[in-house]
Amino acid sequence: MTLDGPNVPYLLHHRDRIPKERYFDPGFHALENERLWPRVWQMACRLEEIPEPNDFVEYRILDQSILLVRTDDLDVRAFQNTCRHRGVRLAEGRGNCGGSFTCPFHGWCYAADGRNTFVTQSRTFDPHNLQPGDIDLVPVRCETWGGCAWINLDDEAPPLRACLEPAATILDAWKLESMRAEWWRAFRLPCNWKLAQEAFQEQYHVITTHPRLVIPGRYPPRSGTFDPKTFLQAELHYLRVMSEGMAGMVHDHDVRIAENLQDIELSNDPNEAIPTWHRRLNDEVVRWHRDRGADIPDLNRLAATGMNEPMAYCFPHFFVLPMYSSASSYRFRPLGPEETLMEIWSLTRYPRDEKRERPEPPDVWECDDPRTPPIPTEDFSNLPRQQRGLHARGFEFMRLSEKAEGHISNLHRTIDGYLAGLPHAKLLPALREVNVNPLERPAVDIAFEPAGPRAG
Ligand code: FES
Ligand SMILES: [Fe+2]
Repeated sequence: MTLDGPNVPYLLHHRDRIPKERYFDPGFHALENERLWPRVWQMACRLEEIPEPNDFVEYRILDQSILLVRTDDLDVRAFQNTCRHRGVRLAEGRGNCGGSFTCPFHGWCYAADGRNTFVTQSRTFDPHNLQPGDIDLVPVRCETWGGCAWINLDDEAPPLRACLEPAATILDAWKLESMRAEWWRAFRLPCNWKLAQEAFQEQYHVITTHPRLVIPGRYPPRSGTFDPKTFLQAELHYLRVMSEGMAGMVHDHDVRIAENLQDIELSNDPNEAIPTWHRRLNDEVVRWHRDRGADIPDLNRLAATGMNEPMAYCFPHFFVLPMYSSASSYRFRPLGPEETLMEIWSLTRYPRDEKRERPEPPDVWECDDPRTPPIPTEDFSNLPRQQRGLHARGFEFMRLSEKAEGHISNLHRTIDGYLAGLPHAKLLPALREVNVNPLERPAVDIAFEPAGPRAG
């Protein structure tokens, strides 16, 4: 099927060209607010943020605010954060509601399960304004998976898990649910939310933006001799650079485990040496973490079954980058057409019985904050200038490599399906094309395409 222009502005008429207005036009931003965000599953909080009964967090997406509350049976419920009297937001940030929320304006009360429990001077209201059920908090769909609580404002949307495949299967194999936040950071990026996440969804930029990650000797030479010692040192150097300030991206523990292996004998044949190194390191990482009582999958079994993806994307704004024992995890939220809140969690594995503190919400750093770790600093440095560059009169569209940047195209066309108001049954096949490892993913046919010429 094809999408039509009048319904959705700035459609991709070539799948390898992205009209620039999609990144700053206020009308386009408003359409996303109206037709995309209210219909998708959104990672609303990590479960460690609400460990105890009555713990709550507020999740905001543009002009909507949702309360997530831990119930007595340790389930999670979600509600629209608005008093049924005159609309005041009941709670902000996070805390423990102690069993009920009291509206600060006139004192109406709501139990943690959303039931209205008290109306101040109820006799003064006509009964039709106090109908039972009609004055409870408005529930929001909420499901838990992967160590997180997710919300969806659309009662018609399929269940969470169906909307996250195939990423959900891959991340389950990684035992994502047994990872915990080691730290949590937040950044304000002066660019569109799609631009921000696209900076992390291809590897084409690595050579130019992260020259320190291009390490001589890490890949076998096309011709000439392979030196296993040089290869090993290059691998260790790579792991250290990736790890610097980023914790879960490559965890210190795993870097140390790799360093302890640096004297192993490797063949002079790279086709033997490289897989041997990776298998050995995987085994040692698994053994070390299991010895300290952590839950970790067999990494070599994951590799053998094609599940050792370095990245899994969950449309529209969450992803996980597993590496050895640990992972980085990102979430991107629009604050306006040209402003984004990006959060990074470093996730790792702890001994099963280790008590962890509730993670503190981070201060929001500007994108040039000197405390930012080196690799994201390099990524962030491009974003403000790219956002400004898009406004140039002589620039009309981004031109994508269909092979190296295909995911960006797949993502935009999936967004267009939502903006066109397609039913969920039509959107699900598109989700299966984007909830994957986006790195070096080619542009693919999705279930619907914009009308107009297609790039050959
Ligand atoms: S607005 Fe909440 S009690 Fe009046
Ligand atoms: Fe990068």
